[in-house]
Amino acid sequence: MSAVATRLRPPRPQEEAVLAGWRADPASPYEDFTGGPTPGRYDTGLPTAPPGLGRLAVTDGDDLLLGTVSWHEVTYGPNRGSTALSIGISLRPSARQKGHGARAQGMLAEYLFVSYPVHRLEATTDVTNVAEQRALERAGFRREGVLRGAQWRGGRHDLVMYARLRDDPATDGPPMTARPRVTC
Ligand SMILES: CC(C)(COP(=O)(O)OP(=O)(O)OC[C@H]1O[C@@H](n2cnc3c(N)ncnc32)[C@H](O)[C@@H]1OP(=O)(O)O)[C@@H](O)C(=O)NCCC(=O)NCCS
Repeated sequence: MSAVATRLRPPRPQEEAVLAGWRADPASPYEDFTGGPTPGRYDTGLPTAPPGLGRLAVTDGDDLLLGTVSWHEVTYGPNRGSTALSIGISLRPSARQKGHGARAQGMLAEYLFVSYPVHRLEATTDVTNVAEQRALERAGFRREGVLRGAQWRGGRHDLVMYARLRDDPATDGPPMTARPRVTC
């Protein structure tokens, strides 16, 4: 058990300027999205966010803001039962390589399975982003394959697809088969 604590909570209004500054000054090549984030996309806090879109702050045990995790819907068919949630994460450089990335994404997966009747959580990351691939594996996600040329960041990039299903075993706990399944 690590002594370093990781927590998730809705970002506070006064933190939005900090987060906007971090987004405007990418600390990672993986955040260099031409055109930047869609304006207003994550502007709603958790209580009013639509079920398929959201964001939480990642903090340490002393409530120091470290970064964010987010999720949005992706659809594999016209019915709600064919909807998955795609997750993302960004931590400040000073917060990396301390276990926060793996723990935060594992916690987010548990939170989303408890909160929404979703069966599949997925995450994509650049084929060169070894840190995120390892963090996702630690968080119980499984590598599924490579999406060739899927992302534009000043050039075409191949992504690796990872997914964690509701009935996959958690890395440090029991499978979540007792939780509600998609019913529609
Ligand atoms: C990717 C990111 C979330 C990983 O979080 P982190 O807190 O640094 O990672 P952790 O400390 O939880 O480490 C998880 C695993 O990755 C490994 N790892 C961490 N950084 C690494 C690096 N730079 N190179 C290789 N392995 C690395 C750790 O050793 C650990 O491996 P283990 O399970 O074998 O022990 C974080 O680095 C980050 O926010 N990066 C910038 C944004 C980004 O790339 N987001 C993902 C875009 S899709």
